[in-house]
Amino acid sequence: MATSVNRSCLTYLLHLAQDNLDFRLPEIKALLALRGKSFHPSGDFQEKTPFWCLDGLAEEDVRGVMARSVCAKSAFELWGHGQTHSELRTSLLNYPSENMSPFMHKDSTYRINVYTFNKTLEFPDRIKRIDAMDYLPFEGTVSLKSPQHIFCLLEDYGTDPNDIPEHPNYIYFGRWIADGQRELIRSHSVKNRHFIGNTSMDAGLSFIMANHAKVNENDLVFDPFVGTGSLLVACSHFRAYVCGTDIDYNTIHGRGRSSRKNQKWRGPDENIRANLRQYGTEEMYIDVMISDASKPVWREAPLFDAIITDPPYGIRESTRRTGSHKDVTKHADGIYLESHVPVSQAYHLSDIFTDLLNFSAHHLVVGGRLVYWLPVYRPEYSEETVPLHPCLRILSNCEQTLSSHTSRRLITMEKIRKPEELDGLAQFADGRFSPYQGHNAFREKYFSGLNKRCIKEDNKAVVNGQ
Ligand SMILES: C[S@@+](CC[C@H](N)C(=O)[O-])C[C@H]1O[C@@H](n2cnc3c(N)ncnc32)[C@H](O)[C@@H]1O
Repeated sequence: MATSVNRSCLTYLLHLAQDNLDFRLPEIKALLALRGKSFHPSGDFQEKTPFWCLDGLAEEDVRGVMARSVCAKSAFELWGHGQTHSELRTSLLNYPSENMSPFMHKDSTYRINVYTFNKTLEFPDRIKRIDAMDYLPFEGTVSLKSPQHIFCLLEDYGTDPNDIPEHPNYIYFGRWIADGQRELIRSHSVKNRHFIGNTSMDAGLSFIMANHAKVNENDLVFDPFVGTGSLLVACSHFRAYVCGTDIDYNTIHGRGRSSRKNQKWRGPDENIRANLRQYGTEEMYIDVMISDASKPVWREAPLFDAIITDPPYGIRESTRRTGSHKDVTKHADGIYLESHVPVSQAYHLSDIFTDLLNFSAHHLVVGGRLVYWLPVYRPEYSEETVPLHPCLRILSNCEQTLSSHTSRRLITMEKIRKPEELDGLAQFADGRFSPYQGHNAFREKYFSGLNKRCIKEDNKAVVNGQ
């Protein structure tokens, strides 16, 4: 096509969902990185707005990102923009005609949509907007039902629902390229999932975690606190092989009390494998097994492309590990005395994170990512309290507020080098690597500020799979 010369330096417009604002930039950056591309915003970039303009991409890159993103709603090839309709018109008339003409010729069919953010336009006003664009040289035929090309006029009325301006703050016009994967939030909702538990991770956040982890086709992904496997469900959807461990026998075997309303016990096939089967990804299931994350059973090797997990915080599940306060009596041959009964002891949050980072440093491939949730007591939070490891660098740290005084932060780290012998001593050499003991009192702090009714309602919602 004669126009292909220019098509590599186009600007693309992303329309993003206005929820989970913190999670959007790391998601888009990770998805671009999966394609070997960087994030180049065009002009004055404002992260919290619903519209981002990106440069330096090809249409296949944008399609690739949209095939994965749950934060982005739609993407467009940007043809024109401006603060007023008159500026938009000037901008559109300046857009190279060779970029437009392949989509406007007389044998083509098309449709123009009007989208307004933070304002509802009546139908006649939408039609007026479309009619006013008659300066564009469309030669094809309008087809509302199945057009070959879809165009969109997008008007941005700001983000304050209590202060909606009469005229839009900004206007864009472009050719629609693709929609994102918001539908996954509904299709994979835990409400309709076969096997759920009290702490099953929300579907949207699970997909966001898989994207932050840059999970790719044929990767091997591990969740050391697998629970009901929500994170494995998301990663297997992106065609990664998945496995996990959990200390809880009932969770791994899908036994015990059901977390569903009106159901006392779990049914015969309520387990993680059945969850993957429900979504057609059973062939990506490696296995899950009972294991204590504080005593990993894996051979010493970089086995995993990504480790993605939601460790226990002690709110809806206990934070326990195997072992006893007394020294366990072991014979020289490694066999426990007959009288030994394994018991559990508290697994402090600071130890959970230290173990998780150490484990990741040893078992991730170089370039592999660890994505996990860190619960924080907001009044005491500072970046210094986020656990560090000399082999892992922090890529993003996104907050999800839980209450006025607590939140959890989604931390994404990348393994930058192999562990060395002296790394074990890093915390003594450099205070930044010492575990922050304040994490250990998270449970007490969480309950201290919440009134009991809130907790009850919150728990009820989770049990009902909301
Ligand atoms: C927050 S839940 C994970 C929920 C999971 N993401 C899901 O979607 O169902 C934490 C899990 O860690 C498990 N766990 C607690 N202590 C553990 C330990 N020491 N080793 C391994 N798993 C542990 C709990 O049994 C629980 O299933």
